Amino acid sequence: MFVLHIALQGCLRATDIEYGVNVDTGGHIRYLLGLVEASQKSADIDRIVVATRAFDSEFGPDYAAPSDRMSDKVEIVRFRTVDPGYLPKEDLWREVPSYAEALIDWIEQQPVRPAIIHAHYADAGVVADIVRGKLGIPYVFVAHSLGRVKRKAFLDSGGVAHPDSESATDIRIKTEERAVAGASLIIASSRDEAENQYADYEAYRPGHIRIIPPGAELTTFRTAMPNLSVDKMINRFLVNHDKPPLLTLARPVVKKNIAALLHAFGESKALQEKANLVIFVGNRDDLNDLEPESAGILKDILYLIDLYDLYGKVALPKSHQPADVPAIYAYAWYRRGIFVNPALNEPFGLTLLEAAAVGLPIIATDSGGPNDIVEICQNGELVDPNDPGEIAASALRILNDEALWQDYSSEGFRAVRRFDWRSHANRYHRLLGAVIKQEGQQQPAPRELLVCDIDNTLLGSRPALAEFSEWFGTQHKLGFAIASGRSLHSALSVLEQEEAPLPDIMITSVGSEIYYRQPDHPSYVPDLEWADWISENWEREQIIDALQDIPGLRPQSPLEQRRFKLSYIAHGKGDFKARVEEALQAHNLSASVAFSHNRYLDVLPRRASKGTAVEFVGKRLGLANARIFVAGDSGNDIEMLRTMPNSIIVANFRDGLGSHEALSHCFIAPRRHARGVVDGVTHFRTNSAASARLAAASDDQEAMAGSL
Ligand code: GLC
Ligand code: MG
Repeated sequence: MFVLHIALQGCLRATDIEYGVNVDTGGHIRYLLGLVEASQKSADIDRIVVATRAFDSEFGPDYAAPSDRMSDKVEIVRFRTVDPGYLPKEDLWREVPSYAEALIDWIEQQPVRPAIIHAHYADAGVVADIVRGKLGIPYVFVAHSLGRVKRKAFLDSGGVAHPDSESATDIRIKTEERAVAGASLIIASSRDEAENQYADYEAYRPGHIRIIPPGAELTTFRTAMPNLSVDKMINRFLVNHDKPPLLTLARPVVKKNIAALLHAFGESKALQEKANLVIFVGNRDDLNDLEPESAGILKDILYLIDLYDLYGKVALPKSHQPADVPAIYAYAWYRRGIFVNPALNEPFGLTLLEAAAVGLPIIATDSGGPNDIVEICQNGELVDPNDPGEIAASALRILNDEALWQDYSSEGFRAVRRFDWRSHANRYHRLLGAVIKQEGQQQPAPRELLVCDIDNTLLGSRPALAEFSEWFGTQHKLGFAIASGRSLHSALSVLEQEEAPLPDIMITSVGSEIYYRQPDHPSYVPDLEWADWISENWEREQIIDALQDIPGLRPQSPLEQRRFKLSYIAHGKGDFKARVEEALQAHNLSASVAFSHNRYLDVLPRRASKGTAVEFVGKRLGLANARIFVAGDSGNDIEMLRTMPNSIIVANFRDGLGSHEALSHCFIAPRRHARGVVDGVTHFRTNSAASARLAAASDDQEAMAGSL
């Protein structure tokens, strides 16, 4: 495969990149080079060209050279545009047409054309779209950051847009619209980007976006050891230097929610007995010189230290260098401490990966990126960031159980590798391969359909999944769908991470959304008729109001709230499903309620469930229910297991599924996770084959009787 990257901005050369030489030589170049470096190592890749712009400038002659070789496979090629000089990104739009022209000329001279283009940032996206129009080469797009997000932040902070002049941001947004609309696939770094940031674009097509977290460079963390200067920096605050610390490292901004950690620590005497608290929140000289937000955070922290009288138990170093960071984690690791990230929402969570790479267990917010990290690394626990009691309880549990600490430490250290550039490149190559796959033979319509829950059914055991995938590879007439509580992007992301087969159909957000994969392409299109049908009587806002005062019931993170799905976490004992149903009834509201894991409570439109969604899909495909197999393990699967005839409950079920009255027809698989799914399909096929034989035999008898 020959991949052509396009990146117009900043100063890009083969060696010694000078990050920060100007504002446009930054993160996106680091990303591009990290990706290219990992990508070229793959046997799937024959050639990589990074196309950038040639210019004359004070930054030196290197950027005017027509090309620059990075390795056997990788080369930088520079094209001149109308303006010969360096231009900041705000002025590059003008150069797009002349750039595209030069690039097309060059491509036409190549012995082999690139199979695919990868455009970085909106300006390159439009170049790629022009090339696609002219030469038919598809492109994938990475925005790196988005104009609409920037504008929102500007407006939120009190900025006023000029009504009649087109700002650089307006132009940028227009350009992004075009780049997004023409892309075969968009690669996002996080769910926040895939589900929120892009959602405001007119060209938003959620099924064309895939999340691949950027690769993290974790080598220095894997080998980190404590050092004296960092020890001193921390210990001067503490009475007892040997206690395990709860460590946090974050920018001093409101959404990082550091105060929750002080409340957790301050309110628990047991935790203060057991541990110290070590807080790194950026660098400061004079508090009063900080930006108002940061100053406010610092003052809060100092206030809480005083309020709970935590002197001698909390370290709050004034400053540290980037080079100190690995040793800061190592300080905590060496003393068998825990890294805590209590952010209200954490889109990605690089610090959690760094902690994992050092071998430090984590406690993190149950919101955003940490979900994925804890799930993959198994290196700690998720907590409600608004519940200091839960944070303290989790910390004590880990600190008081050596074996548990050790498990989290070693699991994280081992698994965090899956977030490196190599893993990123593997997933990326699979996607590119799927995009450029030539229109093959039309797959025949499936004769049977397997619908599988994801968490703890399809996934949960790697060897079981491997066995499943091998088996599935031999099932040519079996269509594959998943039905999950996760959103589309969260589901796709975990399936790709675990290398599960790519589903033909995605039933997501507990049945409230349905997507179909496009033939011969990795993108998905939503079923709008389904959305329309379930929308009847769905009074989202009124339901939110009706449920807001139920004790112990708190909304899950904003990312989990979907148009047709409201999700909560239930704290404490009791029949939350009944309580919610009562509250809905009292307000004359109609909705369906699913409760899973004694913890997750979902409220959906009356007509939406995994069960009704499966039936709807069956109808669309023209498949009788008898030709559909469904498999699940927990509460939100009950509806689909109940309504379908061929229902499989995997051996590791919970929420009482095995003895549920309405599920007595289900097959309880002898084996766990994905192996149980294979057991179930085999069971139902054998049974139906047996009954078909019986029916055929009795037909024969009748025929015989008739002929006598
Ligand atoms: C998934 C979803 C969550 C939902 C749960 C149970 O974990 O992310 O929002 O509550 O499934 O359906
Ligand atoms: Mg499940």
